[in-house]
Amino acid sequence: MFDPRPLVDIATAIGREAGALVQRMRASAVVSFDTKSTSTDVVTAADRASEQLVRTRLSELRPGEPVLGEEEGGTVVEGLTWVVDPIDGTVNYLYGIPWYSVSIAAQLDGESVAGAVFEPATGRMWTAARGYGSFLDGVPLGVSATTDLSLSLLGYGFAYRPERRQRQADTWAGMATRVRDLRRAGAASLDLCSVASGRLDAYAEHGLGRWDWAAGGLIAAEAGAVVRLPGSSPELGEDATFAAAPGIADAMYGALAECGFGKV
Ligand code: IPD
Repeated sequence: MFDPRPLVDIATAIGREAGALVQRMRASAVVSFDTKSTSTDVVTAADRASEQLVRTRLSELRPGEPVLGEEEGGTVVEGLTWVVDPIDGTVNYLYGIPWYSVSIAAQLDGESVAGAVFEPATGRMWTAARGYGSFLDGVPLGVSATTDLSLSLLGYGFAYRPERRQRQADTWAGMATRVRDLRRAGAASLDLCSVASGRLDAYAEHGLGRWDWAAGGLIAAEAGAVVRLPGSSPELGEDATFAAAPGIADAMYGALAECGFGKV
């Protein structure tokens, strides 16, 4: 039987090395950046250097295996594809907010089988292999036991296009009176890891790239969360990502739909 655990070891080792690089670059006086899809969508020199490092290491350790990365692109193939976000939470990185990650996943036929999310500013490493659970620094993870929607903490995010942001803002305003509180932390991979760790009860967002959710989605699912990835929940919209502790998943899903989440 296919054992994905060796792929976690590779993702972990490369994630740490890329994380050290982005930390060194963050320590320099000027963080240079460009914009991408909109003026709010940024890419730094460190995003590019980190992806370059990850690609080089993967080509050495896993020659011939394709890579999809946020900055250089690529395609997902049948068989194994590596999916890389060289810095998830680039805006936080730019501002010196220590909530960003290097996210590396291995997908088999488009589904994640191994993943590592490394938080360079703290040195914390979340990992998962499909069927083997998820871990933070080697300690097994479990989602929150919350059963009351009104006492739940919901993580969320925004897409980059302004008109979509406005509709999303309306949804989050509607949710604000249905849950304990909301958190827009700014790195989807870490939001998903937060659900895995019980640090959030749920997380929802539209328009993520595969690199944003490939590792974190597996880590949340392996920790016991109910996870819906883009393409799997038409009621919440074609490109919705959703993760929730099982005790509030149905109620959260219903509340999001009522607040127009599926129409953003
Ligand atoms: C972004 C972050 C953010 C989410 C955006 C993503 P990036 O990733 O994960 O939290 O709201 O949708 O694009 O651009 O920093 O890699």
